[in-house]
Amino acid sequence: MKIEVGGVEQRYGPRCVLKGVTFTIETGETVVIMGGSGCGKSTLLRVLSGIERPTAGSVRYDGEDIARMSEAELDRLRKRWGFCFQGGALFGSLTVGQNVAFPIREHADLGEKVIDIMVKMKLDMVGLTGFGDLKPSQISGGMAKRVALARAMALDPEVLFMDEPSAGLDPVMSAAIDQLILDLTKKTKITTILVTHEMKSAFTVADRMILLHEGVVVAEGKPGDFRASRDPLIRQFIDGQPDGPIPLRRHRDEYLKSMMGAE
Ligand SMILES: Nc1ncnc2c1ncn2[C@@H]1O[C@H](COP(=O)(O)OP(=O)(O)O)[C@@H](O)[C@H]1O
Ligand SMILES: [Mg+2]
Repeated sequence: MKIEVGGVEQRYGPRCVLKGVTFTIETGETVVIMGGSGCGKSTLLRVLSGIERPTAGSVRYDGEDIARMSEAELDRLRKRWGFCFQGGALFGSLTVGQNVAFPIREHADLGEKVIDIMVKMKLDMVGLTGFGDLKPSQISGGMAKRVALARAMALDPEVLFMDEPSAGLDPVMSAAIDQLILDLTKKTKITTILVTHEMKSAFTVADRMILLHEGVVVAEGKPGDFRASRDPLIRQFIDGQPDGPIPLRRHRDEYLKSMMGAE
């Protein structure tokens, strides 16, 4: 599906978290949304996936604006999407297989045998053949992320949303998840929107990249464009330099404030 984001603004009370966000994602593309902590990445993903409606602007899927859709219309569209969200933990009381089956049972009317086969296929796909009967507490963090990915892919989505899919993993595990995402998105031609603040992940999976800073799209281009850029903001972000145009201290303070729930 082609996604056109036009002038999206998201306000929470007096705070404007997204400002005039505009970009297009072509069908089958993997676009990575990058940016420091608190710049609005997760908010943008919630708006793109219709979990929140923007206070202004449009989000069009193949020309249809979800900001103006009824819940029923949006639900119909959501069946064609897969989600792998930050903190989107597995259901602890369900087995691995039941977790993967969850969106299938919710959105499709299929018999148990068919569901079983679908679940097995998805677990094979993420390298977890035979793990279906274990509980989330019996598998590692990296395996849990793979189950979450299998669950997101359960209904062969046309659009896949992922928020920090390798967060909290060690570098080796994180690289393995990136490689898996790359394999899946290349094989299936899903339109993929991945949010991350990890440069390595971004450069591994991206066809195109969008850099968000304080709710504004400050750069957009192919990974090669970003690598070659001399823009100080981009360089600081890519190279992780502590002193540059982004006032890191202020971000840290904001982060701490948001962690404590103060506004
Ligand atoms: N529902 C909300 N109400 C108020 N402020 C919010 C809400 N959601 C996010 N924010 C604020 O918006 C900013 C961007 O948040 P977020 O999108 O989670 O950033 P990121 O994912 O880039 O770290 C943060 O300062 C956060 O505190
Ligand atoms: Mg986030």
